[in-house]
Amino acid sequence: MSLDEIISFLKRRGFVYPGSEIYGGFAGVYDFGPYGVELACNIKNFWWQTMVRNNENIVGLDSAIFMHPKVWEASGHVAGFTDPLVECKTCHTRMRADHLLESIGQVADEKMSEDEINAKLQEHKDELECIKCKGRDFAEARNFNLLVQSNMGNFTDSWHENATYLRGETAQGIFINFKNVLDTTRVQIPFGIAQIGKAFRNEISPRQFLFRKREFEQMEMQYFVHPDDLTKSYSFWKEERMRFYEKLGFAKENLRFHDHENLVFYAKDATDIEYNFPDLGFKELEGVHARGDYDLSAHQKASGKSFEYTDPRTGEKYIPNVVETSVGLDRLFLATVAEFFEKDTVLGEERFVFRLPFVLAPVKVAVFPLLKNKPELVSKAKEVFSVLKTHLAAEFDDSGNIGKRYRRQDEIGTPWCVTIDFDTLQDDSVTLRERDTGRQSRMPIRELLQIIK
Ligand code: GAP
Repeated sequence: MSLDEIISFLKRRGFVYPGSEIYGGFAGVYDFGPYGVELACNIKNFWWQTMVRNNENIVGLDSAIFMHPKVWEASGHVAGFTDPLVECKTCHTRMRADHLLESIGQVADEKMSEDEINAKLQEHKDELECIKCKGRDFAEARNFNLLVQSNMGNFTDSWHENATYLRGETAQGIFINFKNVLDTTRVQIPFGIAQIGKAFRNEISPRQFLFRKREFEQMEMQYFVHPDDLTKSYSFWKEERMRFYEKLGFAKENLRFHDHENLVFYAKDATDIEYNFPDLGFKELEGVHARGDYDLSAHQKASGKSFEYTDPRTGEKYIPNVVETSVGLDRLFLATVAEFFEKDTVLGEERFVFRLPFVLAPVKVAVFPLLKNKPELVSKAKEVFSVLKTHLAAEFDDSGNIGKRYRRQDEIGTPWCVTIDFDTLQDDSVTLRERDTGRQSRMPIRELLQIIK
């Protein structure tokens, strides 16, 4: 399925809308609609269950989006969180210089210095084309800082001189709370802190739908270890995170590791878990980084507060090292659609079907009265629905013929449909229909919940 087909399906069925659409849209911003928010919530809950609830030594956190500006100075983001920007002199479109070079098969990345990027642009200037007007005349590239600024708490006209930032990653909220968590809970090294939340980046060219947004959500976990255990722990989390996708049912051939050669400013070792996105090919879905003691040492130095850990058994003192796992909710949402949404033929009929794992499905069961104009069927169906909906995400639908109702539910990924017919009124049995095979079976109402769960 192409990216355009996916985008149009997600809009048509109320999963994802372009941000501020009535005003012509707002680049890099999207809204989740009624089914989208359910799917996004289920993805987050599955991650939280896997990372926090299933691990006794990983705890949760929800830190603020706004942090003291010193956080971003200490973390290195004010100085080093940049992408190389180049502007077309003809149409003034701004684009990523590294992406421009990649488009002609040149290896480039966002970590290259301004001089290195400009030398490469110069070397290949006859081959490069503006992504919009196809012009060939470009201004010098410069590194552009991705932090989004705000005037929060500053009431002067020159607020930008002392700007506050919307967080560029959720991780910093974890680092600055490291001591709080250590002092107020019973965790001991090794342990992790996980959080899910919004992050903001002034992406230069936020194309590719949910893949590159300016406002997006991250699911991050920082795992604090003894410095001697960094490499071992990094390898463990690398494999563990890959298993997460396999557990969800992603095909192995759509995922791969991409170990980094050029490392971002905070990393000692890093890999991307890449997904084979439609039209985009293999691209980063999640990053796993060995961050060493970079962040805790930086905050210790800048804040003057000690981040030293004392081993309760040996008395050894050290600054913990960190392994980070970081996945974007929006990219995982897009990968989930690409992986499980398809066209197939069931019982001789073509249909769109969203083969979501049960745990992610926005609606787990839909309840239908066979006929809309038979009050006894409608009232029995409502009765069944009102019981199911207190246990599971359920939907009631009485419009159109049953075939149409099945198609509608297949498309949004509902694993089960229940139909109430005239026999139900006699024997309290219903037809239970399964999404993936279209198979139908007769079931007593009292067993429904158990079977569906
Ligand atoms: N704390 C580390 C960190 O933020 P990153 O590789 O810059 O590392 C981590 O980002 C993840 O966040 C990425 O793998 C991706 O899934 C997601 N992400 C980053 N920028 C994004 C954007 N502009 N839009 C959507 N997701 C993004």
